Amino acid sequence: MSNASSKGNPPNLLARLEALSASELRRLLVEHLGKRKLGLYWESDAIARDAALNADIVLPRHQPTHSHRAADMAADAPHRNLIIEGDNFDALRLLRTTHAGRIRVIYIDPPYNTGNKDWVYNDRYVGANDRWRHSQWLEFLYRRLTLARDLLAPDGVLLVSINDENRAKLELLLDEVLPGRRIGSLVWRTRDTTSAKDRNFSDVHEHVLVYGNEGFAFNGSEKTQRKYKNPDKDPRGPWNGDPLTLAFDRFDRPNLYYPLHDPIRDRWYPCDPNRVWAYATEDRVTDSSSLQSETMEEWVRREKIIFPDEEETRVWNTLDDLLAAIDAGDVPVTPKRKRPLLTRDTPDLDFWVGKTIGFGRPLFKKHWKDLRSHTNPLGSWIARLTETHDDEDFTSLRSPQAGEGTEMIQEVLGSKAFQYPKPPTLIRNLLRQATTPNDIILDFFAGSGTTGQAVLELNAEDDGARRYILCSSTEATAKEPDKNICRDVCAERMRRVSAGYAGKPGFTAAQGGEFAYLTLDKLPPADLPFEAGPQHALPLLGLRLAHSVPAERPGPVQHIARAGDCDVLLCTQVDAHSIDMLAGWAASHDVARIAIYSERPESLAEALSARGVEATCYGLLDVLRQGQAGGRA
Ligand SMILES: C[S@@+](CC[C@H](N)C(=O)[O-])C[C@H]1O[C@@H](n2cnc3c(N)ncnc32)[C@H](O)[C@@H]1O
Repeated sequence: MSNASSKGNPPNLLARLEALSASELRRLLVEHLGKRKLGLYWESDAIARDAALNADIVLPRHQPTHSHRAADMAADAPHRNLIIEGDNFDALRLLRTTHAGRIRVIYIDPPYNTGNKDWVYNDRYVGANDRWRHSQWLEFLYRRLTLARDLLAPDGVLLVSINDENRAKLELLLDEVLPGRRIGSLVWRTRDTTSAKDRNFSDVHEHVLVYGNEGFAFNGSEKTQRKYKNPDKDPRGPWNGDPLTLAFDRFDRPNLYYPLHDPIRDRWYPCDPNRVWAYATEDRVTDSSSLQSETMEEWVRREKIIFPDEEETRVWNTLDDLLAAIDAGDVPVTPKRKRPLLTRDTPDLDFWVGKTIGFGRPLFKKHWKDLRSHTNPLGSWIARLTETHDDEDFTSLRSPQAGEGTEMIQEVLGSKAFQYPKPPTLIRNLLRQATTPNDIILDFFAGSGTTGQAVLELNAEDDGARRYILCSSTEATAKEPDKNICRDVCAERMRRVSAGYAGKPGFTAAQGGEFAYLTLDKLPPADLPFEAGPQHALPLLGLRLAHSVPAERPGPVQHIARAGDCDVLLCTQVDAHSIDMLAGWAASHDVARIAIYSERPESLAEALSARGVEATCYGLLDVLRQGQAGGRA
């Protein structure tokens, strides 16, 4: 892919090339041509590096004043939902050390690279005329998606919203990041009104791309038994009459084109030359081991074929009588299009002379209990809420128009504080299909937090305990250094939605009506011993060991998690008081063992051992360092 315009801030590529000798240029060309492959190519070598990539260690810091606790939450209950402020590259690096393989659904709605300065690369909005716009966008997403894929559970799925213009590029990029994992895409009609586009073309849809790990499947919906009845009291239970034909014509499948006989009533049924019978007749089977199903005669013996009860029948005693009936159109016809089943071209017309011919169509008795699945799959079309058709064979996602998102923000925050939020109904319906009630859902381009609201609403609907992780940048720029949409839009929205707004009830702690607000500190490894401390260790250990952020207790001993009969603790200061507390911890908290993280694990273990207490002690610095190195991609 090449970027047409020469504006922007490209590295001086031409000058670099001019400095090369002819043989160096030839070698470069060979290298370049050798790189060709099926898929997407973008100028990752030529563009300036993503400044977000660095080798600093990312550490979380809990900000209780920006967090939200549900009214019914116990004082020491940890936060299960997270809002992470900062560049999502850093948030993803952190999450890779705490949530690898744990996320069931990642939904993202990344900046669409519209050219309307809708995203920032290296602290600079990328405009329409930026020469490297597309490559920067792809590189930006590639770096983040390669981190994100490690977070997906074995049955996890990535859902990505994208507009029509950038869909192809993003899909190829995702093929690169998650090879072989493409499931498909959903199409969403975003508005009823026309969009102001030239050339008399109105672009009114978007896509949701779906990439899933091997264990992922949409929930679909339970099939209804509505069409299944049992008028003949069949002991095999309710059934439905299915067409007995296949979509092949008589030339494609000559062996399946034959007269079908009802042995009970001794009636004959001509085959549709454009849709042959679904099962072979024994007369034409030479090798029964090659059959993929029973023969038609076997199905008849098993009473699986329903021959019409009441129907018109006819006997033509001479070929002339039959030909006259054919010419008059007085022969059996196909059920829908009424095409004649006997014509002058029908092979072996003599066969039909003197036999009783049925004008009805035999059907296959499909029993409810024999259905391979009682689930209707999810269809790829996102229907509007107002669409009335009732799909029998697949589940339709439903969504209102895009405007619902803006109205919702206005209702919750009292102003249009965010441009182009997604409709919560769309996200809720997507999550209803993609999650089960205990899943963790991540949105690392969270914007106004629509995904968080959708998670809470879904939990309230089905008593679920889903959790959300929302990552959002501040959108602060040199012009607006104090802008913080993560705190003022995303978190504020989730606070109001959680607590209840505009007369609407809030959400309980169990439904997820709470969150921890985290900021990220980036420290050079050499500064770690001086700059990092318990303020980082407590949320980091909580996230690693329990995927939650512990509530801070007064005093030097913090409870991080319980694992079986063991309490995992953080000792923020090793002194006589904390040793006293730790020595009595197991007995007073009814656990068999304790494991303690502290800055001085050896002295702590010694002091506790002197008190007759066996404890496993770990060093804090190792934990803070663990898994964080190598941020440079
Ligand atoms: C299209 S919006 C998402 C809107 C969201 N789905 C909603 O309903 O509110 C994309 C968001 O990604 C944010 N964003 C862009 N680059 C980011 C980055 N590097 N890290 C975190 N967020 C980023 C933008 O600030 C913007 O809010």
